[in-house]
Amino acid sequence: MLHKISAILFDENKIQRRVSDLAAQISKDYEDNDLVIIAVLKGSFVFLADLCRCFTIPIEIDFIAISSYGDSAVSSGKVTVKKDIDIDIKGKHVLIVEDIVDTGISLQYLCDHLLSRMPASIKSCTLLDKCMKHEADIKIDYKGFDIDDEFVVGYGLDYAEQFRNLPYIGILKEEFYK
Ligand code: PRP
Repeated sequence: MLHKISAILFDENKIQRRVSDLAAQISKDYEDNDLVIIAVLKGSFVFLADLCRCFTIPIEIDFIAISSYGDSAVSSGKVTVKKDIDIDIKGKHVLIVEDIVDTGISLQYLCDHLLSRMPASIKSCTLLDKCMKHEADIKIDYKGFDIDDEFVVGYGLDYAEQFRNLPYIGILKEEFYK
């Protein structure tokens, strides 16, 4: 598997330091409010696991599964919900947790989808942001790292369901996805 990675973008230490800083900021911002974390499956599962264990405030956690990429490297531009949330978020403060924002189409869809449940507020948190690729008009409230337009895998991120278990975030060599 390692021969398919051209470079390590963020190693375990760098990720943990950034995740810990993000959790401290979020804990401070929500110290007076109940917070529901909605993590977007599957890619966010490793980030969520580390992030939520650094929080110093009580939180509820739920999951939503959407799909726009499938096994492709390019977004279909069409988002579908594969598994919806179970918690009633009406009147609650919601934070969407993503592994990566690319075009922003998924995040925009998620915000619209969850707003219809009348939460008190919705904010977003992503570990990685390909800001130069945004097509949708989105606001990211908490961000781990900005990245260039490279195909990244590891720490939850996949290509065709592989590489999610890598402890670091690496760049996949072009020859393996083109
Ligand atoms: C990834 C990621 C976001 C979405 C971002 O999910 O987790 O949900 O793509 O792309 P966008 O900003 O262009 O909409 P993916 O469809 O790869 O599913 P996965 O999380 O199960 O790997």
